Amino acid sequence: MERELALEFARVTESAALAAACWVGKGDKDATDDAAVMAMRAMFDTVSVDGIVVIGEGEMDEAPMLYIGEKVGIGVAPQVDIAVDPVEGTNNVAGGRDGAIAVLAVAPRGKLLHAPDMYMNKIAVGSECKGRVFLDAPVKENLHQVAKALGKLISEVTVVILDRPRHQQIIEEIRRAGARIKLITDGDVSPAVAAGYADNGADILMGIGGAPEGVITAAAMKCLGGDFQARLWPEDDSEIKRCKEMGITDINKIFTIDELVQSDDVIFVATGITNSFLLKEVRYYKRRAVTQTIVMRSTSGTIRHIEAHHDLNRKPLFKDNRIKLKLD
Ligand code: FBP
Repeated sequence: MERELALEFARVTESAALAAACWVGKGDKDATDDAAVMAMRAMFDTVSVDGIVVIGEGEMDEAPMLYIGEKVGIGVAPQVDIAVDPVEGTNNVAGGRDGAIAVLAVAPRGKLLHAPDMYMNKIAVGSECKGRVFLDAPVKENLHQVAKALGKLISEVTVVILDRPRHQQIIEEIRRAGARIKLITDGDVSPAVAAGYADNGADILMGIGGAPEGVITAAAMKCLGGDFQARLWPEDDSEIKRCKEMGITDINKIFTIDELVQSDDVIFVATGITNSFLLKEVRYYKRRAVTQTIVMRSTSGTIRHIEAHHDLNRKPLFKDNRIKLKLD
């Protein structure tokens, strides 16, 4: 994929973040999502790719836009598969909390696992810990390995995990091992990706979250040289059936990062909506908005942080609050 594409995709997540940011704290998840999806979809129409959404807002009959199988881009080469989450952490935006980003990952056609919309047990670490940490290893052993690899005491290692009753046992194990824990309310992509950096406040992400978010995280970890391992976590027979229909006959299979993202040519882009481990929130002054976006390409390993100052009066989508307040 041409490197210029990465910047085109940055405009797509910027647009979604700008649209979602106006809904911070307003308690309206659906409006947040609608605004971001609409803005992201509109910006995709300007990107020079022949893209298909493989992870998106649901099946065609469930979502009017960015549904799985929808074509995006202007229809010219390269042919790519795209995983999108216009608002990763919708509850965080609606509840006025930290931890929300607009995010997407892109790979050549057929190279992203079409993860079903169900849970996945995940572990994400940065490059120093690659090869030392395993999804099925005892928690204590993994945390000792992380401490050793990062040159920290175990009491200095920070584990990020979703604050859910299903994690009670693993949280107890982490506490017994002596590591620090940051419990998050929603949005496990940003802390997982943050574990790929030395100093972003997260050393390892553990626990069960969304499978689509797992594939997006794996794409970022490819760019950062980190590791991501996962196992689907179907909750009932219908989800097991769905896995089988997708050709996943071994439900207990651990997916490696290279199975989730089967290419070394991937792009990961995210823009902050509210503050997170990875990115600053959208900030406003006069009728301008400042966004912070991270753009990564696995081919070069380059990571760019883009701070953009948007003149909202000059942006067709945002002029007169069209998208933000649903006045159209
Ligand atoms: P959204 O993208 O739908 O906002 O999902 C947020 C999220 O917190 C993910 O980051 C996480 O993987 C998943 O939901 C956890 O699901 P649940 O809230 O059911 O535990």
